[in-house]
Amino acid sequence: MLRLEDLLLARGDFLLGASVSIPRGARVAILGPSGAGKSTLLDAIGGFLAPDHGRILWEGRDITAVPPADRPVAMIFQDNNLFPHLTVARNVGLGLRPNGRLDAADRARVLGALADVGLDGMAERRPADLSGGQQSRVALARVGLQDRPILLLDEAFAALGPAMKREMIALVTRFCDARDLTLLMVTHDPEDARRLDGDIMVVADGGVSAPAPARATLADPPASLAAYLAG
Ligand SMILES: Nc1ncnc2c1ncn2[C@@H]1O[C@H](COP(=O)(O)OP(=O)(O)O)[C@@H](O)[C@H]1O
Ligand SMILES: [Mg+2]
Repeated sequence: MLRLEDLLLARGDFLLGASVSIPRGARVAILGPSGAGKSTLLDAIGGFLAPDHGRILWEGRDITAVPPADRPVAMIFQDNNLFPHLTVARNVGLGLRPNGRLDAADRARVLGALADVGLDGMAERRPADLSGGQQSRVALARVGLQDRPILLLDEAFAALGPAMKREMIALVTRFCDARDLTLLMVTHDPEDARRLDGDIMVVADGGVSAPAPARATLADPPASLAAYLAG
């Protein structure tokens, strides 16, 4: 379980409080208005923003002060953080070896990770020679090799067209289920939450709601979500 215990996050004048528990293996869509603190919340879980108060626990272990590289957390941003001058294989290899040196066994694992996300035969291309959806798959293959139990996606698929986005959400669902990952996915599209078909947390009005089943939540949204969906 991922537990956010009496968290208080500050950025300039902005304050966000969070006290929620997310079961291991959950798939959570995070919805809420622009500027409500969704990225702030993910940054804190990833270790890029230190809380002013409270603790972050994973399976009972306090990880509040653990640096990002040592956390049980992998993160994908909208730009996918791919290095344009490196091949797909080398970009993915960074998930395994941050220094980029791959031996034959590493290389085999990289090719396996690419096959897992439907990128057979793409290993020697550069990111610029891939579609947006394929670039997202490269980022997913890399986090697969990082082998961290929590996956954070901050509007990672927002730039994709609707059909490609549906495909990516289906792929991420299979990917997380196969590895027992706990997924937190920020999106501004309630349809993404419906397709992910897990839970929803709403970030609004300085707070974070407890995870609740997505379909039921969208069918009968709480006031904070109803206002956002209507806007
Ligand atoms: N580096 C920063 N310095 C000061 N304020 C910031 C910084 N980054 C974000 N904020 C403020 O924090 C609030 C939450 O931002 P953010 O978490 O990015 O929202 P969201 O991802 O929900 O759109 C916003 O009001 C934003 O203006
Ligand atoms: Mg954001």
